[in-house]
Amino acid sequence: MLRQRPKTTDPNVLVGIGDDAAVYRLGDDLALVQTVDYITPTVDDPYAFGQIAAANSLSDIYAMGGRPVFALNIVGFPANTLPLGVLLDILRGGADKAAEAGVSIVGGHSVDDKEPKYGLCVTGFVHPQRVLTNAQAQVGDALILTKPLGLGIITTAIKAQRAAPETVGEAIRVMTTLNKAAAEAMLEVGAHACTDVTGFGLLGHLHEMAHASGVGARVSLSQVPVLPQVWELAEEGFAPGGTHANRRFVEAWVVWDERLTLEQQLLLCDAQTSGGLLIAVSAERAEALLAALRRRGTPAAAQIGEMVSGEAGRLWVEP
Ligand code: CO
Ligand code: CO
Ligand code: CO
Repeated sequence: MLRQRPKTTDPNVLVGIGDDAAVYRLGDDLALVQTVDYITPTVDDPYAFGQIAAANSLSDIYAMGGRPVFALNIVGFPANTLPLGVLLDILRGGADKAAEAGVSIVGGHSVDDKEPKYGLCVTGFVHPQRVLTNAQAQVGDALILTKPLGLGIITTAIKAQRAAPETVGEAIRVMTTLNKAAAEAMLEVGAHACTDVTGFGLLGHLHEMAHASGVGARVSLSQVPVLPQVWELAEEGFAPGGTHANRRFVEAWVVWDERLTLEQQLLLCDAQTSGGLLIAVSAERAEALLAALRRRGTPAAAQIGEMVSGEAGRLWVEP
């Protein structure tokens, strides 16, 4: 739907609608990267929610190869029904996560709202020649995912109080982890294309990348990193509405191996909050990238498939 908006004719707009963030050239060696994102709570702890929302907002800058510099808060809060301390905890979580990223929060805007919402409008810098879009993946590229999947399934189970405490702890650890180190590894080794895995799930974002790049992609489920307890929770039916919607959307693009179960299909479409980077890197550099990711503390990173020739955006999924 967003794609149907009129395209700008400003030549300084290097990246516009259809990617993680907008990129605007200021000069030959400097461009601005900007993104805005806000979410409703995915966990009960307000401080953790603030951290997650900030990490989620910053992620789009990292996905473009950019360096976030400053940010503005966006807040919705039911001031009449929730204690103000909850809001302060959310903002403290956001400020601490931004500080970890080297980002200053320099203002913001809040409205009265029925349920809490929080996120950031983030501004970053990137060299105009070093922008990483989702449109430059090439046939033969290795596909690397830097965080495990299942965050949507787990956060749905949290709301029903069916997720084990260790599962909740691990999901919070993953969602509060910045994609900063992963992006640094990617820039060090050199990649062709990148996006982050968020609301449209792995296959939704992979479809976007493959479509924009004019290639197809193949994914092996057995190589995809998955959070603990996720298969059990998926079999109990804990998948958010967004995950089911994602599966219906990608249905027209995916060739499923007939051995895949419904739960396995849903996991690959699971709507993530603050998910990992999905990186297309030349096959020769894939091992170097995985090594750089591990060195920088991204142990779950794995090669999950590759870009293949075929109809733009077509995905083949095997067990
Ligand atoms: Co994104
Ligand atoms: Co976003
Ligand atoms: Co205002």
